[in-house]
Amino acid sequence: MNTATRWLTVARASEIPVGSRRVLRLDDQPIAVFHLEDGWYAIDDVCTHDGGPVAEGRLEGCIIECPRHGATFDVKTGAALTFPAVSPVATYPVRVVGDEVQVEWS
Ligand code: FES
Repeated sequence: MNTATRWLTVARASEIPVGSRRVLRLDDQPIAVFHLEDGWYAIDDVCTHDGGPVAEGRLEGCIIECPRHGATFDVKTGAALTFPAVSPVATYPVRVVGDEVQVEWS
């Protein structure tokens, strides 16, 4: 089993304006990449309450609201902020190289 981490190019930075997000799949895992005012962030796009598509919800600042039952998460840390979710979503480092958005993936 290969557990080495690597940076994967997932999008062009110019395609994701500030305040928006993109959902993609890495090894069949749904990941949401966010471009916020102060940088880039990535989380699992699977709500820890009941598997909802978190990134389809409303985004205010760094807080995303799951569209299914309203749990909120901090996009920067993955922390669950509002019931019914009590566990954080996983986060992933993101960097931009030139116009390439890259996610660190293992
Ligand atoms: S599935 Fe996200 S709040 Fe229930």
